[in-house]
Amino acid sequence: MELPFAESWRIKMVEPIKKSTREEREQWMKEADYNLFQLRSEQVYIDCLTDSGTGAMSDRQWAAVMMGDESYAGSSSFFHLKETINKITGFEYVIPTHQGRAAENVLFSHLVKAGSIVPGNSHFDTTKGHIESRKATALDCTIDEAKDTQLEIPFKGNVDPKKLEKALAEHHENVPFIIVTITNNTAGGQPVSMQNLREVRAIADKYGKRVVLDSARFAENAYFIKTREEGYADKTIKEIALEMFSLADGMTMSAKKDGIVNMGGFIATRHEDWYEGAKRFCIPFEGYLTYGGMNGRDMEALAVGLDENTEFDNLETRIHQVEFLAGLLDEYGIPYQRPVGGHAIFVDADKVLTKVPKEEFPAQTLAIELYLEAGVRGCEIGYILADRDPVTRENRFGGLDLLRLCIARRVYTDNHMRVIAAALKNVFDRRNEITRGVEIVWETELMRHFTVKLRKL
Ligand code: F0G
Repeated sequence: MELPFAESWRIKMVEPIKKSTREEREQWMKEADYNLFQLRSEQVYIDCLTDSGTGAMSDRQWAAVMMGDESYAGSSSFFHLKETINKITGFEYVIPTHQGRAAENVLFSHLVKAGSIVPGNSHFDTTKGHIESRKATALDCTIDEAKDTQLEIPFKGNVDPKKLEKALAEHHENVPFIIVTITNNTAGGQPVSMQNLREVRAIADKYGKRVVLDSARFAENAYFIKTREEGYADKTIKEIALEMFSLADGMTMSAKKDGIVNMGGFIATRHEDWYEGAKRFCIPFEGYLTYGGMNGRDMEALAVGLDENTEFDNLETRIHQVEFLAGLLDEYGIPYQRPVGGHAIFVDADKVLTKVPKEEFPAQTLAIELYLEAGVRGCEIGYILADRDPVTRENRFGGLDLLRLCIARRVYTDNHMRVIAAALKNVFDRRNEITRGVEIVWETELMRHFTVKLRKL
């Protein structure tokens, strides 16, 4: 008999979580104005809000915490981190920051000016925010196939080379760099192929431009290249990562994802001029160059996390769990962005709650229903998150309306996945009775989803 798949780790420490009753959840949801960000974590049974900073550190990482050197300048922990990053990415210059958006803030302060155009594949919200707040444009050049949730292609996060070429042909004098997000979070945790990174490099070279990788989930991207792209099956994750970064000029990193730490980030680059430019912003925004917003102990833990999470077994365990959950949803016929990506399931709410008009936010409604059903907290990646058009102030209904269920790294078991799937099935089974959604009673101008107040209709 073939042995079943099992995790590449065992559990040494546990954290209790609590169930609640539907009545309690109804009360809490109301008190939270139907915004899941406003819930207290004790009110959540299984938390799928994000995979960011929610992973479980290993025994080696906790041991490394004790070795943190908290010196203000020249901390040995910084050099441990820097050497690990040098080895994994090939980038020589490293600037630590307190998280990914801080890396964006520091690097973009040097590179992005009013009128700049930054092409890329579905820029993450904070990336877009740091571009748009500088009166510049984030130009989305993702392949059109990413919008068809039911289409199965292996690298649905790719940049469309034709769109990128057109963007550069038209705007090259205003393009400070191209940014490629690996994996493409907004498109559903979808990977970018090595072939695509080569195509981007060629176009960038043709116009004399540099390429930044938004690398929050680079290790998961490398896993997909190994398992899906021809010619990579026999390469290690570390070899693949090095090849991916060899096609770029620098990176911004949210270490809270594939670094498996609870807080942290960095910039790395091969170019001294970028390092010198960004340095000037690190000191006032983040801190001195050898800590940049991180504790020595966190830099130690990150160095270990980066090393561990660029090993195949760790990634296989993780992606296998996400695929396990996807398999259950397939069994129940629940539509999600296919094929399932690295860190989350993105349920296609428009296809589930077909009776809820888009003006009443189907994905948010589904997120609320799932929470009420079982205390599972997901996150709307849809019409509320899309904010209003800055000019017309109309809601933007042009994109996808998804419910993202993120899976934290090394945190939940497959039994928790079964609970998530069953809860979603129960909601799915009564989808035709759900005919009304929510309306906005209070919102901010930008990034409204964090604080929006809603009313159930
Ligand atoms: N880039 C990507 C692709 C991300 O997914 C995130 C964060 C960031 C940059 C910003 O990093 O949070 O460390 O400042 N994504 C989280 C999420 C918040 O839930 O997807 P950060």
